[in-house]
Amino acid sequence: RVLRGRPRDLAGQKIVVSAGGTREAIDPVRYIGNRSSGLQGYALARTAVARGAEVTLVAANVALPDPAGVTVVRVESATELREAVLDASEGADVVVMAAAVADFRPETRHEAKIKKTDGEPDPIYLTKNPDILAELGARRQAAFGSASGFAESGGSADTGAAGGPVVESGSASGRGSRSGASPKVIVGFAAETHDVLANGQAKLARKGCDLLVVNQVGEGRAFGTPDNAATVLVAGGDPVEVPLGPKEDVADAVWDLVAARLS
Ligand code: CTP
Ligand code: CA
Repeated sequence: RVLRGRPRDLAGQKIVVSAGGTREAIDPVRYIGNRSSGLQGYALARTAVARGAEVTLVAANVALPDPAGVTVVRVESATELREAVLDASEGADVVVMAAAVADFRPETRHEAKIKKTDGEPDPIYLTKNPDILAELGARRQAAFGSASGFAESGGSADTGAAGGPVVESGSASGRGSRSGASPKVIVGFAAETHDVLANGQAKLARKGCDLLVVNQVGEGRAFGTPDNAATVLVAGGDPVEVPLGPKEDVADAVWDLVAARLS
């Protein structure tokens, strides 16, 4: 599909989009996963390119072809997704976390396939994954001392009073080579089944992001369908409703708000 009639209002912007859903290995053949298709993230990537952006798409377990003009990095687990997103976020202007990231992973990954034996199965113990969106928000807070760093360009580990990316140390497998530069606009997604707006507002504040795209799950929406409806919560602004329509509509509503915050 050719995307026409869009403003080139993201020209020159470096944008990172994560898409799809992570898989957390149990053994060599099994994993804990989720229902994310990646369609919303891919719509975000296509529309951003159509609006002039330079896009890196971090795709977790997505059965979709690479969109034209996009750098695609394929990952499987939340740990891999974190590495790829943090690497791609170096010097990026905008990060959009559309991926469904597993909150937990099995504590141990069995080297050999677990066999069916007589009697009850062993329990699978879980451990927490890092929260990538919260980490991006906290780093920016540390670097700029406020929820929004978009007034300053780029920024680096040694610009902030707090002394840079304090969140990096102690987390899973951070690399020392990252400068800690923070994106100007950070966007999260949230699928909620109940108390959609109240849960969304609390999540927006907790994650320290600028925009949070909230989907009500159910009613044939969100997972695996080409259409979506959403409420985009805006830090310090009024929510924007996007009526049920193609996932490109939700994407364009996000880019309208992102472009406004960048200018
Ligand atoms: N996210 C993330 N890292 C995680 C979990 C979530 O970066 N380990 C991001 C998602 O990509 C999404 C946003 O955080 O943009 C919200 O995800 P969601 O699952 O709705 O939020 P949680 O904080 O995990 O809360 P809960 O699942 O309990 O509703
Ligand atoms: Ca979650």
